[in-house]
Amino acid sequence: MRLVMIGSGYVGLVTGACLADFGHMVSCVDKDASRVETLRRGAMPIYEPGLETIAAHNVRDGRLSFTTDLTGSVKGADAVFIAVGTPSRRGDGHADLSYVYQAAREIAMALQGDTIVVTKSTVPVGTGDEVECIVRETRQGSAFSVVSNPEFLREGSAVQDFKHPDRIVVGVQDERARAVMTEIYRPLFLNKSPILFTSRRSAELIKYASNAFLAMKVTFINEIADLCEKVDADVREVALGLGADNRIGPKFLHPGPGFGGSCFPKDTVALVKTAQDHNSPVRLIETTIAINEVRKRAMARRIIYAAGGNVRGKRIAIFGLTFKPNTDDMREAPSISIIQALQDAGAHVSAYDPKGMDQARELWPDVSFHASPYEAAENASAICILTEWEQFRALDLQRLEKIVAQPVLVDLRNVYSEEEVKRFGFAYSAIGSRS
Ligand code: UGA
Repeated sequence: MRLVMIGSGYVGLVTGACLADFGHMVSCVDKDASRVETLRRGAMPIYEPGLETIAAHNVRDGRLSFTTDLTGSVKGADAVFIAVGTPSRRGDGHADLSYVYQAAREIAMALQGDTIVVTKSTVPVGTGDEVECIVRETRQGSAFSVVSNPEFLREGSAVQDFKHPDRIVVGVQDERARAVMTEIYRPLFLNKSPILFTSRRSAELIKYASNAFLAMKVTFINEIADLCEKVDADVREVALGLGADNRIGPKFLHPGPGFGGSCFPKDTVALVKTAQDHNSPVRLIETTIAINEVRKRAMARRIIYAAGGNVRGKRIAIFGLTFKPNTDDMREAPSISIIQALQDAGAHVSAYDPKGMDQARELWPDVSFHASPYEAAENASAICILTEWEQFRALDLQRLEKIVAQPVLVDLRNVYSEEEVKRFGFAYSAIGSRS
């Protein structure tokens, strides 16, 4: 199949590279000429494990290409995927659909023959209808279909997720589009991944409902963790017992400093807005957002308390800045609010992150960034693990104990246990247990 991916951002690149790996001919289009140039050189503008290798391999075999030429690419394509950003709109929190609609107009101008227009971007219910109107107004009389095919990839494991999805959701209105989408995803049926055909509106809502549910699940375990601390229970045990119930499931029950990233925060807010517009408020999600917001600053208070109650003029070392491991993405990372609150309390923050420091430097000119966790920890009154990168699971605690001003470890991802840490003389504060 000849496929076009409009937008070479996170979703477009991963989807484009993986579909090429299935044997399709994929052209990734982006307006940003320097980004296209970078991709043509074989470099990836984002860090995502496995992506560079898969892209290089498919470029070499002639199945994957990068271009700024939308018109030339769309001509004769079997399907054109819209994979542009839908950030939060400034002022009201609705999803900003201007890039989606612009892409739809440009695709419409270039369409020839019977092409499927697939919305991959996360878009509110009804966007597919609007895309259809835009294309119809521009290309009266031409044959096309608009399909919703939301993405469920996680950053940091996107390639793996693409190849082994729990499900593929396709919102289609007609048989031909259904047949084309089936053909595109056929290689996944070998992995027994189910394809779920729904109405277009249901598919659009499935995406938001999924992200909102997962954000709610994380927030739930975060609150249970807080309760564990008060009643002398251990959230690790509670999560284990809770998750063993098949109806609940063990995933997304790891307490932490609050959810972040490019998806949960913006998608939960956008869902709330859609629901309010339809006079059908999703109050659980409204509350989830509010709890998560408050939690991040509460984490800073926890660090300050562990460091002795007053951090004015003291150094606090932060290990991990990105919103989760295996990404360089700093968008809505809990570290942003936590570091701000520490600085407000007069602390000097020194930080280390394996991949996120380039983006982080732009956010905080007054944080000192270091080449290793050990450098960042020198003279620190507390060390805080904020992101559970693998390399923080095997820290040399003996070495750290010798270089810090005060041996205090605040483990906001429950990477260690109290026994392990106390052996090296550290005071330990974890989430969801009395330590
Ligand atoms: C999320 C969804 O998981 C994907 O299915 C979806 O495709 C994606 O958003 C999207 O809409 O594009 P992602 O943002 O990459 O993926 O990250 P997650 O792994 O879902 O984590 C989100 C946040 O929740 C992170 O801050 C993470 O640290 C936190 N989290 C997650 C926890 O605190 N505890 C958990 O048990 C799980």
